[in-house]
Amino acid sequence: MESSRIFSLDSAVGRREFLKRTGIVLGAATMSGMLAEILASCSSLTGPSVSHGTTTIDISSLTSNGQFHVDSSVLPDGTPILVIRQNATTYTALSMLCTHAGCQVNLPSGGTIFCSCHGSRFNLYGQVTGGPAPSPLTSYGVTLNAAAKTITVTY
Ligand code: FES
Repeated sequence: MESSRIFSLDSAVGRREFLKRTGIVLGAATMSGMLAEILASCSSLTGPSVSHGTTTIDISSLTSNGQFHVDSSVLPDGTPILVIRQNATTYTALSMLCTHAGCQVNLPSGGTIFCSCHGSRFNLYGQVTGGPAPSPLTSYGVTLNAAAKTITVTY
């Protein structure tokens, strides 16, 4: 008789423990399913359709070498496109995101693109000429349509 009381007490504890552990397992499985759905939706938002594209920019106002235009199109890094005329057939499209710590660089002046955050300097091709920036400004592909006086920037 005594042993059956002990047995039923153990069963009650066993059921509670079983339910507790089952709840933990089911909760973990539900959370991992939700996490997988969240991650899947994130990857579809950051896929190629968002981070790559083209934009056509009117360059008719760039009549002298070194002149630039800031296009309001927003690059994947969140900055506008800095278009610089190198010569009549060569244009450079640069990100304005400084490669040092992510500040937006200033507009070109005197052949230099300056970052006022920590003093990095870049030439009109985006190459580092001074300061702590470890790499050039990101440069994007440019296709010139001379007849239409436009360039298409691929990013
Ligand atoms: S962020 Fe441009 S120099 Fe530091």
